Parts: sequence; C-alpha cells; structure tokens
Amino acid sequence: MGKIKRIGVLTSGGDAPGMNAAVRAVARTALADGMECIGIRRGWQGLINCDFVQLTRESVGHLLSRGGTILYTARSQEFMTEAGRQKAVSTCKMLGLEGIVAIGGDGTFRGALELSRLGVPVVGVPATIDNDVGCTNYTIGFDSACNTAISCIDKLRDTMQSHERCSVVEVMGRNAGFLALYVGTAVGATAVLVPEHKLDFEKDVVERIRASRLAGYTHFMIVVAEGAGNAMDIGEKIKEALGIKPTITVIGHIQRGGTPTGRDRETATRMGYYAVQAFAEGRGNCIIGTQEGGIVEIPIEEALTMKKHLQMDRYKIMEIMQFGTNNPDDN
Ligand code: F6P
Repeated sequence: MGKIKRIGVLTSGGDAPGMNAAVRAVARTALADGMECIGIRRGWQGLINCDFVQLTRESVGHLLSRGGTILYTARSQEFMTEAGRQKAVSTCKMLGLEGIVAIGGDGTFRGALELSRLGVPVVGVPATIDNDVGCTNYTIGFDSACNTAISCIDKLRDTMQSHERCSVVEVMGRNAGFLALYVGTAVGATAVLVPEHKLDFEKDVVERIRASRLAGYTHFMIVVAEGAGNAMDIGEKIKEALGIKPTITVIGHIQRGGTPTGRDRETATRMGYYAVQAFAEGRGNCIIGTQEGGIVEIPIEEALTMKKHLQMDRYKIMEIMQFGTNNPDDN
C-alpha cells in the first residue's frame, strides 16, 4: 500500500453511543495525516448507493457528546449479495477511496471481510452496546448502555420498593449476557438471567425471590437478558410459582441512545485514531480491539473466529452479593 490519499468512514448495524466520537477521531486523524476523509452514510448500503458527505475538521466538531450516529446506519441486505458488494467496489473506485473504516459489530465486520476480498482494504472499529465482539475486551457503547439501563432500573426500584413489588426488566444484548450481568450486578438484582447460564427456574428465580423474602426484603428485581428469555413469560412463571404479579419493563431502544459516557468517548477516540494509523502505516484488513487495556490490531479473518465468553466468576459474585446481608433496605 502506498501513501493513502483518501479514505471513507461508515457506521453500520445497530447504533451505539460513542460512534460519533469514533467518526470524529477517524476524520481528524486522517486530516492530520494528510488524507481526505469521506463519510459514507447509511452503512454498507450507502457504499452501494454512493451516498456520501465530505468530512472536515469543523463538520465533525461538537460530536463527542452526541449519541446515535451523524452518518446514519443500516443493516443492508443488498450488501450480503455479490452484486451489492460489486456496486460498493465501484463506489470506492469512483470516489477514489483507498480504504474504509467500518464502525460497528460482528455483522459489520463480516461485510468488511467480504469487501476486503474484493480488494478494498478495510479497518474495523468495534462499536455495539452488546459487547459481544470476540476479538476485543470492549466495544464502544457498552458503558453508556449499561449506565442508561442502570439509571432506568434505579428509578424502577424506587417505586418497586414503595409498593413492595417484584419487577422483571428485560435488557438488550442480542445472544450475549454481558449487558445484563453488568447491569444486574450494578443494581443489586435479586436474579439475573443470561443466555450463557442454563436456567433452572426453581433454583435461579423462585428460590432466590423466596430467600430474599425470608431475609426480610419485600421488593425484588429480576434482570433478564433478551437472549435468555422473554420478560412476559418470566413474569407469568413467577406469578404461578409464588403468587405475586410482577411488573414487566422492556427497556428497549432507550439503551442505545443518549450521551456517551467518558469511557466510550475516550475509547472511541483512541480506536478511531489507531484505525487511521493502521492505514497510514500501510496496514489494512484488521479490527482494532482492546486487550488488557491496550489497543491491538487483529486480522479480520482471525478476528471473526475469536470467541469471548461471559465471565462466570462475575456471575457468581452477582449471586453471592444478594445474600450477604439481612438488611432489607440495602440492595
Ligand atoms: O446489536 C445491538 C442491538 O441493540 C441488540 O442488543 C438488539 O438485539 C438489536 O440490536 C436490536 O436490533 P433492532 O434495532 O434492529 O431492533
């Protein structure tokens, strides 16, 4: 790869707080390195449709605190076809794009791999509230989404406590329990249901609520990862088993919005910087990740085979915390 003159940047898949900070970092690093930076709108679909905007230092100003993505995002079916990807390659040729920084999750990176096989170098920046990308400890947006869910559940707890009720709260996370376990631990949930732990309803839910009641508590908070079950069904089963009717809350897309936390802004800035550095130093076709606090580059093909497991020691800690006290006012 010679000296790159122009790169594109896009956000794809589900949005995540901090994506804008990553776009800003990519654009400003590129400009500082003497490259032009073109924003591709609406993810891979935008690359197919030649839907772009020129990015300048000024146009990416005031973005650090903005949730969502100014570049818009999409889940493109057309990009999954060879014909769609060929159109994307044509756009790269037309605009003179010598590399693409793709900000998103696993789906985005699968697309990146296919595009790289057609000769367009791609660097991936992991951003998803699910934190479920195997090659990196951390994905942009996770901390913000956790904090949003925590703040919703804190509010919910106030009213559950006043009315002495049970609450079943469903959080996102797709097929992974990272978000649910983190949030459940941080709010002192009575039980947390994650897809990585095979559910024994009697032991994991009924017994925990019962033990909690016996310890003097009169309100109960059950956090369910969307991949572990449906909050309505869990609520029904609790009613059958214990004769109490839980309130059901599905936090939903609220978790994906809002001002990114400091951690997400800072991580996004570093990842965006290193993504462009990879191109500037003649490397492409890799994913930027964090491992042991530092930034690493992993070849895309290898990155997509890497697996990350929910830390079951953390699950155990969450379980122990609920029964370490007999004070019903202490969650
Ligand atoms: O991947 C992010 C995520 O918010 C998941 O947690 C969730 O399962 C999914 O996207 C929801 O997708 P959509 O916004 O298309 O409903």
